[in-house]
Amino acid sequence: MMRSGHRQEAQPPGQTAVFLDRDGTLIEDRGHLRDPGEVVFFADTVDALLRLQVHARLFIVTNQSGVGKGLLTKDEAARVNAFVVDRLGQAGVRIEALYCCPRRREDGCACMKPHPLFLKQAASEHGLDLRRSFVVGDHPHDVEVADNVGAAGILVLTGHGARHRAELLPDATVVPGIREAADWIVAGLEMQHQDRQAPGLLDAAARILRDGGVVAFPTETVYGLGAVVFNEKAVARVFEIKARPRFDPLIVHVGGTGHLPLLAKSVPAAAQALMEHFWPGPLTLVLFKSPRVPDLVTAGLPTVAVRMPRHPLALELIRRTGAPIAAPSANPFGDTSPTTAQHVLDHLAGRADLVLDGGPCPVGVESTIVSFACDTPTLLRPGGLPAEEIEALIGPLAKASAKHEQPMAAPGMLPRHYAPRTPLRVVRDLEGFAPHSEERVGILALKRTDGVASFAAAEFLSANGDLQEAASTLFGALRKLDAQALDHIVAELVPDIGLGVAINDRLLRAAGNCQPQTKEHAS
Ligand code: TXA
Ligand code: MG
Repeated sequence: MMRSGHRQEAQPPGQTAVFLDRDGTLIEDRGHLRDPGEVVFFADTVDALLRLQVHARLFIVTNQSGVGKGLLTKDEAARVNAFVVDRLGQAGVRIEALYCCPRRREDGCACMKPHPLFLKQAASEHGLDLRRSFVVGDHPHDVEVADNVGAAGILVLTGHGARHRAELLPDATVVPGIREAADWIVAGLEMQHQDRQAPGLLDAAARILRDGGVVAFPTETVYGLGAVVFNEKAVARVFEIKARPRFDPLIVHVGGTGHLPLLAKSVPAAAQALMEHFWPGPLTLVLFKSPRVPDLVTAGLPTVAVRMPRHPLALELIRRTGAPIAAPSANPFGDTSPTTAQHVLDHLAGRADLVLDGGPCPVGVESTIVSFACDTPTLLRPGGLPAEEIEALIGPLAKASAKHEQPMAAPGMLPRHYAPRTPLRVVRDLEGFAPHSEERVGILALKRTDGVASFAAAEFLSANGDLQEAASTLFGALRKLDAQALDHIVAELVPDIGLGVAINDRLLRAAGNCQPQTKEHAS
């Protein structure tokens, strides 16, 4: 088995740049801003830029056509620009330069996006390699300006992004916001780095898959253990390696909607809408299957689960393989899902033909699964995309019964799943909870709580209680606790909203029950 080392050390800022649009990308788009008091940063902006600047130099490139239209003065635009750069600076984010075109579109100005004048200027002034650089923005012009210099364009759906999405080619990179743009860029740079360190590794992975092998690879949710969906022998090996029961079907990973006719009989309009909005991303759709999909993949069900991952390495692997990849999470059946390549190696070393390392998975819990096999779209598994966001688009989802009424509908709903070996109990509230003196108890909670000294170990999922961060650290934290020879682990539920629903679901399943225990039971 080959494995490429994951680069831990930060790359000194240098050749690579990220060109950031201002309005709708870093700050809310509230029309033509005349005063710094009107600036509202997105919640994720500072964190995302702090992560990006470890790997790349940051620039802002903004079109302020309101100046040309007489809606604000040049000075007003300059003050807002200076304020944005200054605020970011106070938070520790270094913007190397800000470029602003003040003219109207009709003026056909040479520095207005999608014209690449500013990017070229930055490249010559700062010694950048534009082909290794990225442009992030909420307008197709941001993607176009990237194309014009051989950089990678990323459309964010904040600002005007959602409205313009349809104007882009189907294989354009589209992400929900600046946070996911940063995830994408960091993973993309990691991939470029590996390509230089171990040239041909990705091609080798694709070849192994085409030849009927099994490859573990990163996605934005968890690592998957993949085989080409149409190769039954290879798929059978995936089941074997995982010791997965044959009644538990696999998710098929596609590189885009172009793969769907190979897999699904038809795509209902609501499913289509979900794909347009949330793919690539942590959303799996269950559709009636095409006869081409082997029964082994779907465990004999008339349906197939499909998703398009939001990870550059996964998508590149699918693209080079030239076929959809069936992949469950890359862990022994019933165990905690792997969110780093090391987790995969811990359990499956020597059993997969290759483990690709793409760094830690940014989402950290598995995809949300919605079935279109019933009259009403049904939530089969809460996951990395909050159900609220799906419901906002297509209306209320039916909830699959936790009592497991349809045993074949989603075998991943087995009550005990994602489990550490140490006995785990889940409680609503850790407060006042104290271990028996002779016991080694570990606790798991969203945020640091008082009185942790009496426990043998403690893991906190997010210092400031951010549920997205908590989802990304959950499985790693469970693994850490599991490795400490504890008598048991007590986990506290997190708020049951957004990604908290998926976190609580995984905690309860890891504990083998569907209800949190009361204090009396748990102690
Ligand atoms: O985020 C994810 O979904 C990750 C990454 C690797 O993509 N994959 C993942 O796969 O979590 P796995 O095998 O651990 O979970 C797949 C779930 C299982 O609960 C399975 O029962 C369900 O998807 N599933 C697959 N095909 C299905 C079908 N046709 N109908 C209902 N449920 C299905
Ligand atoms: Mg914008």
